[in-house]
Amino acid sequence: MSKKRILIFASGRGSNAEAIHGACADGTVNGEVVGVICDHADAQVLGRAARWGVPSVVIEKKDYPDKAAFDEAILKAAVSFTPDLICLAGYMRICGENLIHAFPDRILNIHPALLPSFRGLHAQRQAVEAGVKVAGCTVHFVGTGLDDGPIITQVAVPVYDDDTEETLSARILEQEHPAYVRTVRAFCDDALHVEGHRVTGMHAKEK
Ligand code: GRF
Repeated sequence: MSKKRILIFASGRGSNAEAIHGACADGTVNGEVVGVICDHADAQVLGRAARWGVPSVVIEKKDYPDKAAFDEAILKAAVSFTPDLICLAGYMRICGENLIHAFPDRILNIHPALLPSFRGLHAQRQAVEAGVKVAGCTVHFVGTGLDDGPIITQVAVPVYDDDTEETLSARILEQEHPAYVRTVRAFCDDALHVEGHRVTGMHAKEK
């Protein structure tokens, strides 16, 4: 099977992007990161892409008159990479519907909460403030609503009495990287199947 072309969307640090790129580079994932689209010119992920020798494109909202024009520019850039898969990895924007319709069931996102709880920004802070005892991360296909779309995999972590947003975020992040890599690997092996809200192929019962 030929390698899947993976396009990363990121806004900041890029540690999930690094995990995906590393797994492609060492052969864990049958894919290749072909580009990075970033909405912040000073994002750390851009330095990472340069180190990998992967092209990146910066598209900043402030350079466009409105969201429709920005979404058009994003779609045009994305299509130019002819990706098989788009991975949102710390991408802090809601994708345009044009992108979602152009790549049905081909856009993944990682969210630092056990969806459908704690959608949106500061999910780890929301979890601490809500007093939940279990938190975690979710990898899902991107739908048209905020942090919705079919769930592919989730990993839970405990929340301790002395946790802060920072300590809980670090515990979740440790799980995010392998969870995202496992999901991208399954996608690139054509193992995932979407039926309505259900995704199968990741969690078969061990025999
Ligand atoms: C991660 O916690 C991810 O779940 C969230 O934003 C953070 C991005 O981290 N959407 P990084 O840029 O991948 O290091």
